[in-house]
Amino acid sequence: MQGAASRLQLRRRLLTWFRKNARQLPWRLNRDPYRIWISEVMLQQTQVATVIPYFARFLQQYPTLTQLARAEEQEVLRLWEGLGYYRRARDLLRAAKLLDAASHATIPDDIDFVRTLPGFGRYTANAVLSQAFDRRLPILEANSQRVLCRLFAIDESPKHSAVQKMLWQLAESLLPSKKTGDFNQALMELGALVCTPMRPACDTCPLQRDCLAHRAGRQHDIPRRPDAVEITLIEEVAIIVRKRDRVLLVQRPDTGRWAGMWEMPHAPTDANSPDVAALCLLDSLGLTGDIVGPLTTIRHSVTRFRITMTCLQAQHRSGRPNAASFAWVRPHELSTYPLATPQRRLAQVLATSMNLVEQAAGS
Ligand code: ADE
Repeated sequence: MQGAASRLQLRRRLLTWFRKNARQLPWRLNRDPYRIWISEVMLQQTQVATVIPYFARFLQQYPTLTQLARAEEQEVLRLWEGLGYYRRARDLLRAAKLLDAASHATIPDDIDFVRTLPGFGRYTANAVLSQAFDRRLPILEANSQRVLCRLFAIDESPKHSAVQKMLWQLAESLLPSKKTGDFNQALMELGALVCTPMRPACDTCPLQRDCLAHRAGRQHDIPRRPDAVEITLIEEVAIIVRKRDRVLLVQRPDTGRWAGMWEMPHAPTDANSPDVAALCLLDSLGLTGDIVGPLTTIRHSVTRFRITMTCLQAQHRSGRPNAASFAWVRPHELSTYPLATPQRRLAQVLATSMNLVEQAAGS
C-alpha cells in the first residue's frame, strides 16, 4: 500500500464500509464538540456498552459545557461512579471551568489551546477536533492500533515508543484531507467489529486486500500480545465505624488513586486476625471503639491486584477522626457521596442490614 492511489482506494473502502456498518451510537447523532468530548473521555479504557448509559445520564444532567462548568466536583464524581479512572472526571470538570472562565461555550476549534487543557492528551484533542471540526488530526487507541499493526504487519510490541511513533505517523499518512472524523472513527470501528483481537473476521474486512498481516497469514499473532501480568493477592480490612445512627466516611486525598472520593476506612493487612487489624485501623484514625463483628467480605480487582476486603463493624467510643476530611453519615445519605465500586457494594450491604434491623425493631 505504498502509492497515493492505493491510499485513496483504502480510504474509500474504509469510509464506504463505515457508512454501511457503523453502529448508531448516541455521540454520533451530531457533531456537537461538547458531546463528542464527553464521549471520548468516557470511552478511554472503557467499553462502548458500559459508556452508553453513563453518557445519557451525564448529558441529561449537564447538557452544555456551561452547565458542567457550574457543577460541584462531588456531583460529577457521583455521576461517574462505576466508570473508574476518576481522574478523567476531575480533569473534565477542571477543563470545563477553564473554558467557561475564558468565555467558551463549547470546545473551540483551536488545537494549541485545547492541548493546554487538563485531560487533553494527543488522542483526546485529535479525536474531538477531527470529529467536531473535520481537522486533519490522526488518532491512535487500542482498536485503531491493532488495525494498523495488522495492515502494515508490524510485529514489534506496540508498547515501544519507537513503534508508537511509527504508528502515529502511519495513522497520519492514511488520513484523508476531508471526513477525517469519520475516517478516524471508521478505523476504531473496524477494530471493534471486524479486526478484533482474537478472531479477526478477515473475510468481511474491507481492507483485506491491503492487509500485510493477512497476506502473510499472520493476523492471529500480530499485534504481539503483551506478557501476562502476574496477579497479586491482597488482604484488606475495612471498618464501618458506627456512632448512633451514623457511619464514618473519610475522603481520599486530592491526589493519587480515587482522589476526592469517599470511603469507609480500610487498609491492607497481613494480620491473621481481622479484629486486631481493625483495632489498629481505628487507632490510626485517632479513635477508640469496640469491634462488634463481621458484616461482609467484598472481593474485587484493581489492575493486577485481587483484593479481599474483610469488613467489620465497630462501635465508636471516643475521639474525633484525624482525617483531613470526614463525615458522619446516615445510611440513606450514603447515596449522595461518590464511592469507588467496592465501597458502594459495602454501602449497599450496610444499608440493607440497617434497614433489616430497623424493620425488626419496628415489628
Ligand atoms: N472509542 C473511542 N472513540 C470511539 C468512538 N467515537 N466510537 C466508538 N468507539 C470509540
